[in-house]
Order: sequence, then C-alpha cells, then structure tokens
Amino acid sequence: MRSDTPIPAAVVNKYVKQMNLENVGKASIREIKRLVDLVEADTGQRYIRMEMGIPGLKPAEIGVEAEKNALDKGVAAIYPDIDGTSGLKKEISRFVRQFMGIDVQTQGCIPTVGSMQGSFASFLTLTRMNKQKDTILFLDPGFPVHKQQCRVLGTSFDSFDVYNYRGEKLRDKLEMHLHKGNIAALLYSNPNNPSWICFTEKELQIIGELATKYDAVVVEDLAYFAMDFRQDLSKPGQPPYQPSVANYTDQYILLISSSKVFSYAGQRIGMMVISDQLFERRAKNLRAYYGMEEFGRAMVFGTMYALSSGTAHSPQYALEAILRAVNDGKYDFVEVVKEYGEKAKIMKKLFTDNGFQIVYDKDEDKPLADGFYFTISYPGFTGEQLIETLVYYGISAISLAITGSERLEGLRACVSLVGREQFPDLEHRLKTFHAHHSGVV
Ligand SMILES: Cc1ncc(COP(=O)(O)O)c(C=O)c1O
Repeated sequence: MRSDTPIPAAVVNKYVKQMNLENVGKASIREIKRLVDLVEADTGQRYIRMEMGIPGLKPAEIGVEAEKNALDKGVAAIYPDIDGTSGLKKEISRFVRQFMGIDVQTQGCIPTVGSMQGSFASFLTLTRMNKQKDTILFLDPGFPVHKQQCRVLGTSFDSFDVYNYRGEKLRDKLEMHLHKGNIAALLYSNPNNPSWICFTEKELQIIGELATKYDAVVVEDLAYFAMDFRQDLSKPGQPPYQPSVANYTDQYILLISSSKVFSYAGQRIGMMVISDQLFERRAKNLRAYYGMEEFGRAMVFGTMYALSSGTAHSPQYALEAILRAVNDGKYDFVEVVKEYGEKAKIMKKLFTDNGFQIVYDKDEDKPLADGFYFTISYPGFTGEQLIETLVYYGISAISLAITGSERLEGLRACVSLVGREQFPDLEHRLKTFHAHHSGVV
C-alpha cells in the first residue's frame, strides 16, 4: 500500500498482522469491526463506519418509560404468556390494520425475541407441515443470519439473486424453484437488507400468486417497515400502506422488527404476525412433533414454548405503549427514522461524485429509495479488493458476497452510524481514494 493514505498504512498493517488476517476483504463483519476499533484507538482517527447495521438513534422514549413502569410494578417476577400479553397482541393487530390495511386476529399476533426468533420459529415449524416440503427458498440478496438459522436447524435452503429477475421476469424464475415441490416457505426482506430494493406491487402479486399455487408460505421480513421514504407510509388508517404480499396470498407470516423502526434493538423484541388462514390451518404431519395439527397452536405451544417460553415481560409493555401511540396517531415513527434516508441521499452523492457506482440502483424503472443501506462498487475492483483498500482510507463496509448477491464487485454501506459531522471527512477520503485509483481501468 502507498504511504500517503489518510490512515497510515503501517498502522493498518500492524493490526492486520496482529489479528492474523490473511485477507481483509474476506474478513467477517465482526473482524472488520475489531480491526477498525484497533486502528481508531491507535491513531485517534475516526473511521466512516458503515459495516454494521445497528440503529444510530435513541430508543423510542415512550417505550423506555413504559418498560420502567412495568418493572416497578413487578412484572419481572411473573412469567408472561407464551404468545404475549393481551394488550400487546391487541396493539399489534391494530398496527397491521392501521399501517398495512390488513386484518389479523390477535391470536396470530405474537411477540418474539427479536425478529430473528420469529424467522427461526417459522423455519422450524413450516418445514414440519409436509414431509415433501423441507426446504426454505431465499429471495437474495439477504441477511446472512437467516441462512445460518437454517444451517443450525439442519434445514436445506435454496436461493437466487433477484437482481436479474425484476418485474415480470420474477415469475418464471420463481416458478422454476417452486415447481420442484420441495419449498415449504420463501423469505425476503422488503425494503431489502443489503440492497435496499423494494418489491413493486406487481412483484408482490407474482410472489403471492405463485406461493398460493405451489402451497408455499411466504415469510415477509419487514425489518425496515415503512422505510421506503418515496411514499408517505406514516399515516395510520390511511393509504398508501406498507406494501405486502398479504394482499396477494393468505398463507403468510410477517416478521416486524422493533430494532430499526423504534430503535429498540437492545431489548430483543419483534412481532410475528400469522395470517388467520395459516394459524387455523391443520397439517397431519405436525402431530408427530407437537401432538396437535393446528399450525398456530403448534407454533405457540410447541415451538415458542420450547424455544424461550415467550418473550421478556417488560419489553412487551414498551412495545405495547409505542404501538398504541403510533396507532393513535400520537407518535410519528417514520418521521424519526427519515434521518437515515436523508443521510443516504448525501452519502450516495459523495460516493458517485468520486467515481463509485450504485450496484442495486432501480426498482424496475424507478430509482431506488434512499434508506438504511446502499450498495457501491468502484471500477476495476472486486468487493474484496475494495474493502481491503478502503480500510486505508478510513472507510469500512461489508462485501455483498456474504449476502447471496451475484454482484461480487459490490459492498454494502450502512448509513446509521455515520454522523453528519463526518461528511467532510468522508468527502476528503473519497476524493483522495479517487485521485489515487482513477487510472486503474
Ligand atoms: C433483514 C433483517 N431481518 C431481521 C433483522 C433482525 O431483527 P431483530 O433485531 O428484530 O432480530 C435484521 C437486522 O439487522 C435485518 O436486517
């Protein structure tokens, strides 16, 4: 590495060696985090940290207050019901009515230990309904931990990158996978981590119709609920609503995380919303595992009981209070998180002004929304080489290669931890990088 990079190459090299990293570009998210922590501590220089997807805002205050009150009243001593407190279940059901325009009975509205427990429980239960249907299909790029969940469960999975199959093209590609008859469920996140693509209504309709045709359940991961800021999805009871496959199939599970929308990641509380039809559906094969055939009851009294016997009590009060305020139109959660979109807009421009390209850049014919993540590449660099080089310029991100993306030249950049006061530094570092590398191709 040349000697005039913003971060002294000798210091970076010292810690790469100390950590025994053979290839920085292939390092895991946590290894990159550690390397950057060490270099920052040594040099006193702050990185533009875009590697981890963690909220950069304060937790919703209404939640913190409600949780403190609940603890003062002694809920910590009491086992909560496995499927959640009645007040929270009611507010979750109201939330999907108010912000998605769909009706789900309270029985199917279940708090989980983060949205991650919801996906784990879904994979586990859904692959036991029918012996022939034992595989999960991921519409990639995606969140790598979902595949890790399948691995630890011993569940097979299949995947494809939707980049080349947008719009009507999705139909044939999806049908090719579903036609095999082994897909129990399919999962995607919308807006998508890492690419921030958002499926259009046409695409959601294709997914819903084919899921019904081939009897596969759709697990829709709404970790970034209402964060497609191109439309105002913030008004309770008024369209436009958060787009959803729930409008096109009745066999669905929605996973709604509180981590990003309410900045409540630390309390590990999310929502699993099972459609009425799926909740009440009976599958003979479930009896062998759960002693019962009804899907919803098997999920609650079989899977959730076995996994954690419910969700911690006090965060349920937090979420109930947040949702009540949101449902009543007293707390505009979308306004709070809009900051991510505004930062993304500025940051994307800083990158593209300096020779970078946005990898996933369109939803069919519409430019992509600005939000929590965006994807970048630089001509002549693979994703690995780009991470490895940017570290010397005080910028960290992760490679798209670990997300099931076929765009191996790309990186995912997360805006949440980058402060606006760092933008001049980001600009300077990108300019320097561009000046050093624009002759590569
Ligand atoms: C797409 C996606 N799904 C799920 C999660 C996890 O959500 P939770 O913190 O509620 O478990 C994340 C968090 O980054 C995510 O990006």
